[in-house]
Amino acid sequence: MNAFSHAILNWYAENGRDLPWRHTRDPYAVWLSEIILQQTRIAQGTAYWERFMQRFPTVQDLADATEDDVLRLWEGLGYYSRARNLHAAARQIVALGAFPDTLGGIRALKGVGDYTAAAIGSICFDIPAAVVDGNVYRVLARHFGIATPVGTTEGKKEFTALAGQLLPPGEAAAFNQGMMDFGALQCTPRNPDCLTCPLQATCNALRTGRVELLPVKKPAIPVQERHFNYIYVRWNGQTAIRKRGAGDIWQGLFEPLVMSDPMGHLLKAGVKHQLTHRTLIVDFYLWEPSAQPELPEGYIWIKETELDRYAKPTLFTILLKEVSPSPEERDLGRG
Ligand code: ADE
Ligand code: SF4
Repeated sequence: MNAFSHAILNWYAENGRDLPWRHTRDPYAVWLSEIILQQTRIAQGTAYWERFMQRFPTVQDLADATEDDVLRLWEGLGYYSRARNLHAAARQIVALGAFPDTLGGIRALKGVGDYTAAAIGSICFDIPAAVVDGNVYRVLARHFGIATPVGTTEGKKEFTALAGQLLPPGEAAAFNQGMMDFGALQCTPRNPDCLTCPLQATCNALRTGRVELLPVKKPAIPVQERHFNYIYVRWNGQTAIRKRGAGDIWQGLFEPLVMSDPMGHLLKAGVKHQLTHRTLIVDFYLWEPSAQPELPEGYIWIKETELDRYAKPTLFTILLKEVSPSPEERDLGRG
């Protein structure tokens, strides 16, 4: 085995994190952890993984749930397409009769890309596939002194090939998880701990003074701003929401009225909310009409007391804190 991989495996045996999904090789449990961790930090992800395992202990339980149930349990994690794909993939797996045990079979599940397929395949089935993510790019770029920009086709090809060559025979699971943890704990984005690093003697970036310069990133896409008005309408203990459709943010989640000419009185102006590729700037209104207004297409009336039955974007949940409880809610003792 090459010295780099040997050092990673030794480091992992000493320093690997004790994470709950590392106590099982149940592909359902591992798959669930990988989907949650695609865009969520370990601390937050662990709590959600435990909630999901408790509520849906098997893939059959998840497949039997409704999409709304899954979205509701996912609420607060963001990137809701992950939850919709998770649910669709659970039904794929049930239709297959068993969790797929080949890289191609795993990769064919909705929401599973190269990284996730390699992680599940290596951890659960000892498939020799290397994971390649931000941690792996960083560790390899620094240790081997590679300045090819990550996030480009060329970078992906080069780093994937190198990670594959380094994969120690029979040790894919430990090597992959070792790379994840080494990147998260030792060779961190800022202030990596080079002084205690077992690779310091062979690290190209350390020797050439390029630790801060590697990996090279492709310039980021500028963040777009988007302004809109949300109107919380209150009529007779009811409010109006709609389920967002495909092709935009928050698919499948519920939101209040959106109007270009707002009604009612302003509760909060210029609320900033950061999404990955845009900044939302929202004015939030409370509108209490005296007669039941006609709703634009797609909106439904629901009881205000039943709002928590609907999966909502975090922004909507934040804005709802500005709305005082309705008389009906006060009667229920929630006011
Ligand atoms: N990030 C993504 N997958 C992970 C895993 N299995 N362990 C730790 N961090 C991860
Ligand atoms: Fe990363 Fe520093 Fe170790 Fe090099 S010496 S691998 S930069 S932690």
